[in-house]
Amino acid sequence: MLLAHVSDPHVTSPERRAYRIVDTARGLARTIDTLLARRPRPDAVILTGDLACDGRPEEYAQIARELERLPMPVFAIPGNHDERGAFRAHLVPRFCPTEDPTFLQFAVELDDLVLIGLDTLVEGSEGGALCARRLAWLEAALAKARDRSVVLALHHPPFATGIPFMDAIALAAPDRLETLVRAHGRVERVLCGHVHRSIQTLWAGTLASIAPATAHQVGLVLDPTAPSSFTFEPPGFQLHLRLPDGRWVTHLVPVGDWPGPYRFAEYAAG
Ligand SMILES: [Fe+2]
Repeated sequence: MLLAHVSDPHVTSPERRAYRIVDTARGLARTIDTLLARRPRPDAVILTGDLACDGRPEEYAQIARELERLPMPVFAIPGNHDERGAFRAHLVPRFCPTEDPTFLQFAVELDDLVLIGLDTLVEGSEGGALCARRLAWLEAALAKARDRSVVLALHHPPFATGIPFMDAIALAAPDRLETLVRAHGRVERVLCGHVHRSIQTLWAGTLASIAPATAHQVGLVLDPTAPSSFTFEPPGFQLHLRLPDGRWVTHLVPVGDWPGPYRFAEYAAG
């Protein structure tokens, strides 16, 4: 199993730029091109939120056109920049097989593993949360996936990253989620977005991993007195590879143009 983890494309309509200077539509298009060029191709793709920049219907129409270029199963959950109505109109059920009339969350089987996507969006807020209803749905989904390997995807990370202005808008009150993940015992990855950087930590007894954004990155600002910022560090995505022995390894794939590859055999001598 090769699972591509793409996040935070923040797609705008063609005449606009995110934050006045970021061509986010191009960022997603280049990411799709990179996914299509990989050999082997990923078996599935999960997008962990902030698909649109401003939640406009035309942004989701553009996103759907891009995602339709991918031949493998593609799944998406919302982030704080998304708008549930327009998301649902353009991406459900093909890219988000939710059965909930309100929330955009799902559990799907990929080979012998269960991919669960959670909706942590709180309308009008940059931070995320899981209400009692969403947690109850997750508890039932995890119970149904008992004894199965699970990959859990949610936009807002349930852990601190050390970037103060992002930690202030992370997932609120993650204790109940942590209890559910620990109780299941076979949640093998927790995949997040929101922070626009590649970040990993051990959380709830498993590896939690944030994918970089496909467009602008959040500055690595660890100084609590420094202002929030974004950068044009290389965009990318993560590839989670499940080896034959069942172990997952996580690779970072930058998206861009640079020299190489150079064959070691040709350059080893002299
Ligand atoms: Fe984002």
